[in-house]
Amino acid sequence: MNETVPHDDHQPDHQQPHDDHQPDHDQTNQPETNEPEWLVPSPYLDADLGVLRTGKEAQINLIERRSADDPDRWCLLAEKRYLPREVKAKGTLEAMGVQKASTFRNDVEYREGRQFRKTRDRRAVSAMTAYGKRLLQNRWTGHEHDVMRTLWSAGLRCPFPVSYGDDRFLLEYIGDRQGAAPHLARARLDAAQLTDAFEQLRDGLVVMTASGWVHGDLSAFNLLWWHDELWFIDFPQALDLAANPQGLNYLHRDVENACAWFAQRGLERDPEVLFAELLVHL
Ligand SMILES: Nc1ncnc2c1ncn2[C@@H]1O[C@H](COP(=O)(O)OP(=O)(O)OP(=O)(O)O)[C@@H](O)[C@H]1O
Ligand SMILES: [Mg+2]
Repeated sequence: MNETVPHDDHQPDHQQPHDDHQPDHDQTNQPETNEPEWLVPSPYLDADLGVLRTGKEAQINLIERRSADDPDRWCLLAEKRYLPREVKAKGTLEAMGVQKASTFRNDVEYREGRQFRKTRDRRAVSAMTAYGKRLLQNRWTGHEHDVMRTLWSAGLRCPFPVSYGDDRFLLEYIGDRQGAAPHLARARLDAAQLTDAFEQLRDGLVVMTASGWVHGDLSAFNLLWWHDELWFIDFPQALDLAANPQGLNYLHRDVENACAWFAQRGLERDPEVLFAELLVHL
C-alpha cells in the first residue's frame, strides 16, 4: 500500500457541487437517511491508502477519513472509481487515477425503464455524443448510490453509501487494515456457516424484492463474508422490478446462480422454491 498522503482540501473532488451538465437523478430526492455513528463527520481529511481491488468495471481504493477536529477519530472507506468505457492510453488512465479500462457489460438492457426525462438528454444518449456518454456514466454512479441508500435504509446488509460524484463513489469499507473482506467464493465456511450464509442470502433477497429491486449480477463474487456476516455489494446494474419488464427474469437468474453456488458446496436448496418465496414479497 502507498504512503498515507492527506489531501490539502477537506472536501474530496467527488463532493464538489454538481455543474449544469450533470444529469437529473430521478431517485436522488430520497428521504433523509441517518448517517451511521462510525462515519466521521465534516470537517475531515481523506487519505488514499492505495488500490484494494480492480474489478471488471471499477477500481476500489482504500480511504482513511480522519476528523480534522479530533485526530484520534477515523474510519476506513472504500472508493469505487468507475473505469473509463473506452480503452485509453496508459498516461490518460493514470491521470484519471485508475489502472485499466472497463470490460464493459450490456448497458442497454439494464437501463430499460430508466429513461432520461429531458428530450435533449435522451437524444444525446442515443446519438452517444460526449455529453450523452457523460450522462450515462454519471447516472450509473448515482444509480448505484441511490439503490444502496434505499436498500441500506430498508435493512439490507450492504455497505453504507457515503457520497458520489462524477465517476467516483464512496462507501463503507468491509474489512480491516490487514485486508478487505473476502468474496463469499473465497471464504472458508464450515457446514454450519454455509447454512447460515444461505439464510442470510435469503433474508437479503427478501429485503431487496420487498423494496422492488433486483441485484442483477448476484454471484459469490458480489457477496462478501466478514465475521460471519454476508454483505451484498456491486449494485450499478440493479433493476427496478416495477419498471423493468426483464426484472423478474433477472431475479430468477440471480436466484439460480446463487443456489448453484451453494449446491456446488454441498448445500442443496431448490431455486424454484426460493424464487416462489420471493414473489410473495413483491
Ligand atoms: N465496500 C467494500 N469493502 C471491501 N471490499 C470491497 C468493497 N466494495 C468492493 N470491494 C472489493 O472490490 C471488488 C470490486 O468491487 P465491485 O464488485 O463493486 O466492482 P466491479 O468492478 O463492478 O466488480 P466486478 O468485477 O464484479 O464487475 C469486489 O469484488 C470486492 O472484492
Ligand atoms: Mg463485483
